[in-house]
Amino acid sequence: MTGMVTGVCKGYSLKKEWPDFKAYEDQVIEIERASFPMPWSGSSFEEEINRDISNLWALISEQRIYAYICFWMFDKEIHILNFAVHPQKRRQGLGICLLMMVIDTGTAHGIENIWLEVRPTNGAALSIYKKFGFNDMGRRKGYYSDSQEDAIIMALDLTGNTVLSVSGS
Ligand SMILES: CC(C)(COP(=O)(O)OP(=O)(O)OC[C@H]1O[C@@H](n2cnc3c(N)ncnc32)[C@H](O)[C@@H]1OP(=O)(O)O)[C@@H](O)C(=O)NCCC(=O)NCCS
Repeated sequence: MTGMVTGVCKGYSLKKEWPDFKAYEDQVIEIERASFPMPWSGSSFEEEINRDISNLWALISEQRIYAYICFWMFDKEIHILNFAVHPQKRRQGLGICLLMMVIDTGTAHGIENIWLEVRPTNGAALSIYKKFGFNDMGRRKGYYSDSQEDAIIMALDLTGNTVLSVSGS
């Protein structure tokens, strides 16, 4: 399913279904490589596309991909696994737009919390998550194998109550 997006990322379409992933793979991998020290491969994306609980949503315009977010939704939780905006489209609200849509979906499905891991050195990501009210829930020691950095676990409580624990922490 692909639908037009309104609001902050008006003009983009939201792509949620990927029977044609191969046609977009190079674009996704280009953004991925420009965004992460340990980029996902095409087959990592395909694995997620084929996983029942996983969602890959992208903002596209004229067959070009400009941003994407990959998340699992299961039980009462959303876990964000991947989130990136094309370097030339950053700081234009696309990240906010995708996160808002995930949060709205979570709220609509009765999800209680959204959680993710982020590098302590990733100022842009920390800033956007704090803007949405994500809280620092703790660390995963040596989570990033390229730098041995710890991951900060962040969680957003969608119930109005404090999130006390997150899966796997
Ligand atoms: C993190 C990321 C997805 C943000 O996407 P974006 O579309 O540029 O973000 P937005 O334009 O919606 O910005 C929203 C807010 O995020 C924060 N932010 C974004 N980029 C920032 C930067 N370079 N420095 C500091 N804060 C930043 C700001 O709070 C910003 O609000 P403001 O513009 O009013 O100050 C993008 O920087 C990215 O793709 N980074 C590389 C991949 C990555 O680190 N993903 C997250 C993994 S946990």
